[in-house]
This record gives sequence, structure tokens and C-alpha cells, in this order.
Amino acid sequence: MGCITDGRAVANILYKSLKRLEYRGYDSAGMATISSGTLYVKKDQGKIDEVNERLNFNDMPGSIGIAHTRWATHGAPSKVNAHPHTDCNNMLAVVHNGVIENFMELKRELLDLNHKFVSKTDTEVIAHLLEENLRKGESFFSAFVNTVKRLSGSYALAVVYVGEPEKILVAKQDMPILIGVGDGGMFVASDAAAFIEETNKAVILQNGEVAIITTKSYEIYRAKDGTRVTRSPIVLNWTVDMAEKQGFPHYTLKEIFEQSITLKSALRLQDAYVDLLTEFLDRGEKIFLLAAGTSYHACLAASYMFSKLARLTTYPVIASEFVDNYGHSIDINTVILAVSQSGETADVLNALEFARLRAATILGITNVVGSTLTRISRAYLLQNAGPEIGVAATKTFTSQLIVLAQLALRLAKKRGKIAQFEMDEFKDRLYEVPDIVSNIIEDVRASVQDLAKKYAKEKFFLFLGRGMSTATAFEGRLKVMELSYIPCIAYSAGESKHGPISIVEKDVPVFFICPKDDTRKAILGNIEEMKARGARIITIGSKDDRELMEISDDYIGMPDVHELLSPIVYVLPFQLLAYYLAVERGLDPDKPRNLAKSVTVL
Ligand code: M6R
Repeated sequence: MGCITDGRAVANILYKSLKRLEYRGYDSAGMATISSGTLYVKKDQGKIDEVNERLNFNDMPGSIGIAHTRWATHGAPSKVNAHPHTDCNNMLAVVHNGVIENFMELKRELLDLNHKFVSKTDTEVIAHLLEENLRKGESFFSAFVNTVKRLSGSYALAVVYVGEPEKILVAKQDMPILIGVGDGGMFVASDAAAFIEETNKAVILQNGEVAIITTKSYEIYRAKDGTRVTRSPIVLNWTVDMAEKQGFPHYTLKEIFEQSITLKSALRLQDAYVDLLTEFLDRGEKIFLLAAGTSYHACLAASYMFSKLARLTTYPVIASEFVDNYGHSIDINTVILAVSQSGETADVLNALEFARLRAATILGITNVVGSTLTRISRAYLLQNAGPEIGVAATKTFTSQLIVLAQLALRLAKKRGKIAQFEMDEFKDRLYEVPDIVSNIIEDVRASVQDLAKKYAKEKFFLFLGRGMSTATAFEGRLKVMELSYIPCIAYSAGESKHGPISIVEKDVPVFFICPKDDTRKAILGNIEEMKARGARIITIGSKDDRELMEISDDYIGMPDVHELLSPIVYVLPFQLLAYYLAVERGLDPDKPRNLAKSVTVL
């Protein structure tokens, strides 16, 4: 958040705006203002109100300032890691959302030039790089543009500088940022919720753009060639509540739609940590993938990826079963990769504590830096999905899958068990996923909404898939069941003839997941078995699969995607279906009954 006024103190405006952004992150908060040639900075770990109680933001002087509420990606939540970050001489301050991929390299360069770093964040390099460019005598804007050109990764940036205290500079790449155009003041924020009570006129910045914001004007330029961009504000007829959800009626839907962005963020892993986890996994004798709920389904998919790409056998285990089932065979040669978006699930932590006491190596994948899982893991990877407010896991599931896919690929390289061309092909397909996801959500939304209307009164659903799609079937079942309260079962389709088929009779709705992979032929057989017993067949399959379309009562067509990545794409219609079924049935999709976002009881 940033604000510049024609004389009014900004501290209170920034504080109120920051509160409205708290849903985006809440592990630490901070503010920087400029007054009479001095930069004032206050920041600390904790929620905004807690930090304010300790530091009192409101007494910060000045009519220009920036503020931030953090969701850690690099560096645990702490006072030094909180934003804003400053340069060596406290002349400028930076707030940043996103991930700077090349921060290690930039940091080394700046350390050689005697810059003093105080935090463990990627963001701090931006402050020092800007300082370095200013030292060369460049103007604030030119130094800023040259700084931005050196960054790779994602960023929404806002910067203030004592030397030119009448402007806020901003930049955008793959992270949202908007300018709020008010009377007597201008704003900048990562979403309109922050300034909607001050103004409903907003200018949305595009990737690769930088902007200069003063009390009365804004100028937008393309960073790479300095071309001026003209863009008028749009008028947002949003309430604060609507703005927080970016115009979506519920957080769950907003989070489903966010997935192309969160997948891109999850592709930005720090190489050194991927290597570290790869090393530990490769050395293990017994490797367990441990998780609960949706995260367990990500583990199920991962076991196929590890096996097919890296020829590594792993055991996906439900966390609450781990101690009873495998406890006696845990030893120093055991490696456990725990997957938990919250990093706080009691069943997971309980199993890990048991394993840790038996000298097993604990590795983690989580969305929350500073969570217990990050503290007890030898090494961990972050999902970078941002906070998920909807109780049902959506964007955190797909980000777990893409993190696991990258790990599987690195393991494949290390173990050298598959051909280079296969690895290259997988990598290419992996990087296509965020764009495929972005298109498919828009493409299937209306037809899934129709399906939800049609099936909203059903008493029961069956979900079937094979291979990788077993994980999709399980996750589809969980999403639909927890949001719509319609009882559901899911099986690997090969198992359906061993029992589940007995409940199938006329008009029972059965969902089949049938991508064009090696499982297709067998799934077609399973569909015929169910059809013969009168089931209604609803298929999620490849969009040019005419044969499948013809034997299905309802059909959702999907783009082609690498077999091992199919759950990331094929789960999307189920997330939407779960959401729309809840809406059709008059339920709150964000807060399903009896469930909590983080289950901290055994
Ligand atoms: O935070 P975690 O990933 O460890 O949470 C695990 C489960 O509690 C969670 O996935 C739960 O099943 C959700 N209701 C799924 O939407």
C-alpha cells in the first residue's frame, strides 16, 4: 500500500488501508513515511493491530508513505524481515509482493560493493540495488527503472526516497498492483480493497510497467524501453467486501481463479533448496510422503511422479495412520516428506515428532513460512501460493502438485534413470501449465455451473479414475463432498468391479476422469460397465475425444497436458463444481460446516 496526499498525514490512511489488506498476509507489518527530509520506519512481527499497539503507526509524520502486511516467502516472520526494507543510509524504503528469483546473485554483487544487509529476505536487495544506482548520480526514476530491469521473478513494488519526497514509484511483474486516483490524494495497492473507501477510480498496471505517482498525477511507462503508456482509470462499483474478494462473491471462487498466478509463483523455487531435498530423498532407504486431506491427494499424485520420472518408490501415507502402520520400521535411513499447506496439521506434526525421535530425516513442503513444519524440517520448499482464506484447499493443492513435479524432475536428473528428451519434454510441459490453467478455468466455468444446477439435488456421487487420475478422483470427491455436503465416494476405477459397482443403479451419477493417457482404454471399459447398469456418465476428458463424448451423458472437454501433470488441470472442473453446488444448495462455500482451515487437534 502507498499513499501521497496534498498535506493530510498519511499514517492513519495507510493503517486503515493495511487492515483491509490483512487477508492477504498477516505475519508482520510495517510502514515508512517521509517528513522534513527524514525517513521514518516502524515494523515488527505480528498482526497489524498487534504491531500498531506496540509501535503506534499513527504518530508517524508525513504526507507520503508506504506500508505492508507480510506473508513470508523468504526469511521467517520477524522484525528484521518485515517490510519496508531500507538501504544502508536509511534514505529509501521498499515494499514488495512476490519473489525475486535472482536475489542471491544480486546480493553477492552488492555485498562485494560493501552494502550492509540486515534481513534474510529477497526484497532487501531491491533497496540496496536502488541505492547503488542512485550513488551513480541517476535520478530517482531512472535509478528505479535500472533496478527493476535487473530483477527476475515476480514483483509488485512501491518505493519512496528522501531525495525526491514528492513521488512514489511502483513497478509490476506477475503480481497485481493498482493506482487509486483520488481527490487530494493518490494511492497504490496490491488490491482495490485498500483504497476503495477513499476512491473508486483505479488504474490497473500491466506486466513490465513502472509508474510515477504524485499527489495529483500518475505517469505509466514500459520499463524496458521507456515508452509512455496512456491509461484512464476505470470505475469500480465495489464495496470493501467485494474489493477484498476482487469482485468475486466468495474467497473460494477468487482462489480458484487465482491459480494461474499461484502456479507461476510455485514455479519460482530456490534451486539450492530443491537440490537439498533431492539429495535427501535420493539417499533415503524408505521414503514416505506424509499428509492429510487434500495434501494427501497431492502426495498420491507425487508417488506416481517420483516413480515414473525418477524411478523412485515412495509411500504416500495418511498422517493419522502413520505411527500405527509404519512406526515400528522407522529408523535413521527413513526419509519423510511431509506436505501440509498450513504446516500446522496436528496429525502430520504428531507423526513427524514420532519419526524425529527415531532419527528419520524430515523434509517439508508448506505454504506458511515460520510454521511448525518449517521449524522441524531439515529442509523445506515453499508453495508461494499466498494465504488461502476459503477453508477448502484449492490453489494450495495445485501449487503443491507443481512443487512436487519440480522435485520429481530434479530427482530424475540426479538419478539419471530416464532419457534426457523425456526430462526436457516434461520441463517444457510444466512451464505451460499456468497458462493452460488460466484458459481452462474461463472455458469450463459456464458448463460446470450448468452441471451444478442439473445435479444439485443428487443424493450421491461416485468418482472414478486410474493412475494419476486416481488422485484427481479422490480430490474431486473431497472438494464436492466438503462444500456441497453430498455424500461421495471415490475409487481407483480398477477397484470399482470389486465392490462399488453394487451400489450403481439407474441414474446414479458417476464422474470419470479420462485424459488421453495410458489409462484411457481401461477407463472406457469401466464406463461401459457403469453405463450397462444405468449410471449417468459425467466425464472430464480430452476435448477432442469424440468416442468418449458420445458415450457420456455430460462431458467437460480439457486441453492436452502431460500425463503426470493432469491432476493440476483436471481438478479444476471439480473445484468449480464443488463451489457451484454449494451455491446452488444455499451453502457458504468459504466456511463449510464443522471444518477448520488448520486442524490442530489429533
Ligand atoms: O494444512 P494441511 O494441508 O495440512 O491440511 C490438511 C487437511 O486438513 C486439508 O487438506 C483439509 O482436508 C481441507 N478441508 C481440504 O479442503
